[in-house]
Amino acid sequence: MILNQGYLIKRKSSARHVESYTMRLVDATEINEVMDLQHKVYEGLPNKQVLYKDTKFEMLDDLNNGAMIIGVYNSEERLISYRYISFPGYSKKNLGKDIHLDISELDKVVHLETTLVSPDYRGNRLQSLTLAKAIELIEPLDMKHLICTVSPYNLFSLYNIMSAGLNIKALKRKYASEDLDGMWRFILHKDMSKSFSVEHSELKMLKMDRIFEQRELIDKGYVGYNLIRDSQMIQYSLSQ
Ligand SMILES: CC(C)(COP(=O)(O)OP(=O)(O)OC[C@H]1O[C@@H](n2cnc3c(N)ncnc32)[C@H](O)[C@@H]1OP(=O)(O)O)[C@@H](O)C(=O)NCCC(=O)NCCS
Repeated sequence: MILNQGYLIKRKSSARHVESYTMRLVDATEINEVMDLQHKVYEGLPNKQVLYKDTKFEMLDDLNNGAMIIGVYNSEERLISYRYISFPGYSKKNLGKDIHLDISELDKVVHLETTLVSPDYRGNRLQSLTLAKAIELIEPLDMKHLICTVSPYNLFSLYNIMSAGLNIKALKRKYASEDLDGMWRFILHKDMSKSFSVEHSELKMLKMDRIFEQRELIDKGYVGYNLIRDSQMIQYSLSQ
């Protein structure tokens, strides 16, 4: 089923040309193309800390449990971007636990997992377009909480996700394993059943990579609600 169609700009060196795209759900049988794009994007990252690579096994397992991968295909039917969303239910990886959601709310959590755009196609707002489509797809499913992790060193992703109304509720090390110490991640959250309002008398600002100062603020009950892209400053407020 086609979810969306339109035009985008492909940039290669100094050349730019307009190309058509199609957005559709990626089938489990097409998982290798997803892995190939993840590999290509990861290899091109100047800071590898910003992307935690999903394994094929994890993604297939999630797909069997209702997860969806929204794919964007170029005019040659090649995958150029995807957004992966999952429904963690009561599993231990539910990020609702990191932001102290009530246990009764955990089955209403949607995880916004990995989003990637192939370097030649960046700047077409595909991260935001696929997020809007994801929200449309989950609308009939009676979900309440959108939650994701973003690296404090990932300006573009953080800006896009905060512009969509997700707020910073925690900052901690995630994805630790025997050979990995874990990586710093903001945990961002949007309660789709209510709007967030700022306590104007209690505003603070910190640069997005100031880990320990931000952790102190969050521990005091502050929530990061806006990122100023040029200065990389995050505005925090006490939540009401
Ligand atoms: C984060 C990401 C998905 C955003 O891609 P996107 O939707 O194409 O970004 P936008 O269209 O919002 O880009 C806005 C601007 O930032 C620029 N930009 C976006 N990502 C950039 C990057 N990684 N490096 C440098 N500039 C980037 C765009 O060129 C555009 O510039 P312009 O305003 O001058 O045209 C993409 O950068 C990416 O795939 N990054 C690597 C993987 C990653 O970090 N994923 C998120 C964590 S799962």
